[in-house]
Amino acid sequence: MNVTVVGGGPGGLYTAILLKKSDAAHDVTVVERNRLDDTFGFGVVLSDAARETLEALDPQTFAEVEARSAHWDDIEIHYRGHLLRSTGHGFSGISRKALLEILARRARSLGAKLEFQREVRSLQEFEGSDLVAAADGANSTVRALLEKEFKPAVELRPNRFVWFGTTFPFPAFTFHFKENEHGLWRVHAYRYDEHHSTFIVEVTDTTWRHAGMDKASEDETLAYCERLFAKELQGHRLLRNKSLWRQFPIIKCARWHTGKVALLGDAAHTTHFSIGSGTKLAMEDAQALVTALTHEPDVPRALDKYEAARRPVVDSFQRAAQVSLTWFEDTERYMAHEPIQFGFSLLTRSFRVTHEELQRRDPAYTSAVDRWFAERAMKQSGVPLGLDPPPPPMFTPFKVRELLLQNRVAVSPMCMYSADDGTINDWHLVHLGARAVGGAGLVIAEMTDVSREARITPGCAGLYKDEHVAAWKRVVDFAHQHSYAKMGMQLGHAGRKGSTQRPWEAGMDEPLAEGNWPIHAPSPIPYFEHSQVPKEMTRQDMDRVLQDYVEAAKRAERAGFDWLELHFAHGYLLATFLSALANQRRDEYGGSRENRLRFPLEVFDAVRRVWPAGKPMSVRISATDWAPGGNEAADAVAIGAAFKAHGCDIMDISAGQTVPHGKPVYGRQFQTPFSERVRLEAGMPTMAVGNISSYTDVNTILVAGRADICVLARAHLYDPYWTRHAAAELGYKLPWPPQYESLDRYKARFK
Ligand SMILES: Cc1cc2nc3c(=O)[nH]c(=O)nc-3n(C[C@H](O)[C@H](O)[C@H](O)COP(=O)(O)OP(=O)(O)OC[C@H]3O[C@@H](n4cnc5c(N)ncnc54)[C@H](O)[C@@H]3O)c2cc1C
Ligand SMILES: Cc1cc2nc3c(=O)[nH]c(=O)nc-3n(C[C@H](O)[C@H](O)[C@H](O)COP(=O)(O)O)c2cc1C
Repeated sequence: MNVTVVGGGPGGLYTAILLKKSDAAHDVTVVERNRLDDTFGFGVVLSDAARETLEALDPQTFAEVEARSAHWDDIEIHYRGHLLRSTGHGFSGISRKALLEILARRARSLGAKLEFQREVRSLQEFEGSDLVAAADGANSTVRALLEKEFKPAVELRPNRFVWFGTTFPFPAFTFHFKENEHGLWRVHAYRYDEHHSTFIVEVTDTTWRHAGMDKASEDETLAYCERLFAKELQGHRLLRNKSLWRQFPIIKCARWHTGKVALLGDAAHTTHFSIGSGTKLAMEDAQALVTALTHEPDVPRALDKYEAARRPVVDSFQRAAQVSLTWFEDTERYMAHEPIQFGFSLLTRSFRVTHEELQRRDPAYTSAVDRWFAERAMKQSGVPLGLDPPPPPMFTPFKVRELLLQNRVAVSPMCMYSADDGTINDWHLVHLGARAVGGAGLVIAEMTDVSREARITPGCAGLYKDEHVAAWKRVVDFAHQHSYAKMGMQLGHAGRKGSTQRPWEAGMDEPLAEGNWPIHAPSPIPYFEHSQVPKEMTRQDMDRVLQDYVEAAKRAERAGFDWLELHFAHGYLLATFLSALANQRRDEYGGSRENRLRFPLEVFDAVRRVWPAGKPMSVRISATDWAPGGNEAADAVAIGAAFKAHGCDIMDISAGQTVPHGKPVYGRQFQTPFSERVRLEAGMPTMAVGNISSYTDVNTILVAGRADICVLARAHLYDPYWTRHAAAELGYKLPWPPQYESLDRYKARFK
């Protein structure tokens, strides 16, 4: 096969090596615009995992790379005069120049032709090739030539960064966070050979402009950074190599191949340098491409296979890189953290390194973190805790007003659609009772409606009749008698999503075929086009809803609930007041955010007045509508602050479901970043929910300060004893009800 590789970076050279290794008869030419020794950047980091891949693919290249690499296990974080050191991380650094020299030599020795100083401008030059592997980097010419086919999306991130080298040999992977009169500067530094380190300076656009860096030449940039980091560089100089301020481009393409042309490496996708995986991903792409070519009879099929194999891996890295880069864009937000929490937040920023993984890498650090967390929990709750060893973070108590939660796990409210005119039954007793016994500190009952018309479906639970009180009291009494779980009630009003079918009958939010009841909303906008058009609420309607909330809250108190949550999320009545997408009123309840907040705050105030002062109240909101013109994270912060000012104890941060055209960005813990932002910027406790499913995620979220309580829904549907199973895995003893006491001497086995 005759193959042209465009670009002599790591991706291109590795493609040539693996192709020649797979079949020496392949005719492979690498075309590179620069000279071999004329590359950008300084050192690159390879994780231990990346090194293992290299070793398996081509031991000879690996051996040479190893010989020229600097290896280290530690990460050092310099923050507000403190040095935090964490170990067990396992990285190597190698000079980019050395890496390319090794790869080029190996490619040549295997018989690949390398043509340096040849710029590719058109693809006509390669008509005779069976395959064009475009590894020409983030500014790929080939991608631009075939833009219509590849449909690239390039998003420039707001932070500015500049890539320097230095002669200071940093002893570990080092982060500096340094403040001066212009703002906060971040440094990512690591050694790549005995005498040199990479030194990347990153800063927000605002600080960059304040410092006059928008007008600075390369020399001026270097001089400024040398002055700023004189202490950290300990008399060493910075080295430059096309060291100009840049914004990182996140590149994604709809396709990575067309005809006989395939994109790989940075040409196809980029991952932010803060997770240091670009070189590894480019080399793994090369491997996948060559494997596909070896196993498939023709090029188009091989390219299909290549892309199918690589996409999920790359998507996952791009998601991890996205949260990581956001951490560095928002670092100012974390500057109030105590050093140990700041370090933990940094180390776990991409969600890939969790509390558990950190425990494996560096047990001493994790144990110090857990002790710190437990000490804070003791202070917060007034409950003495054994510290030798400290309890896992999720098993520390949390006090809100006079209510003490035994741990930080909550069962999320989940509609069962199984009530009769609002009256719950044995299903609810067994469902909630099992989850209370299951070990969570807080069990929040499903959205329970404040009036008959407020129901989502005919099966929704209610607290609008006095007989509802007795039914709920039976559940609450059971939980109080047989578990330590505290019981939460979630009050709601369906608004324009009311009068719909049970989800298992026709899908979510589908209007009833018959037996509809009238619905109302801030504005007469139906949820779906085919949904019932809600009546625009008058002040009289609002007064009635407000009074319904007050009466329902009083009934919740009579039923013995410990905690009251107002459901102002997911596109139900009060959520539609909060969102401009559903609230287009022209009176004082619509328009500005302040106006949209007015009625939800009135309802909150009225309920707070009748709900006992010692019992907590939370408000669940959709932090974003995931739709243009709707609420975004900044709105969630302002909404949280407004409820805080009115006495809300804790915000329960969910997202979306406001409008059917919302485009959620799903993933692990996908709503947790909103919880963190509200917590840190509105300065109030939060509950995180949404795709939190492992106990290590819970511990990570809590210690990193992303929430105070973790709320799990489907995990609890699947496993009512989720918290007990987490405790068993973590080696933590939870008291059983006396009926189950024999389990103290039982070891569960599933395999
Ligand atoms: C600041 C910073 C720090 C980074 N740190 C790390 C790190 O620590 N670890 C890590 O793994 N990754 C890191 N990366 C990412 C890494 O540099 C890239 O992901 C990696 O180089 C991608 O390899 P590639 O072969 O796809 O592209 P590149 O390395 O960009 O190579 C592309 C090659 O194509 C050539 N070329 C381009 N256009 C043409 C043309 N028209 N004709 C001929 N030749 C052409 C270029 O000259 C270049 O040599 C970092 C990136 C940045 C910006
Ligand atoms: C069956 C079911 C019913 C739900 N009902 C409610 C509800 O009554 N109130 C509410 O705020 N959220 C409700 N939700 C959303 C969950 O509380 C939770 O926010 C969501 O499922 C994401 O969490 P998870 O990934 O842990 O499942 C429901 C979810 C499910 C699966």
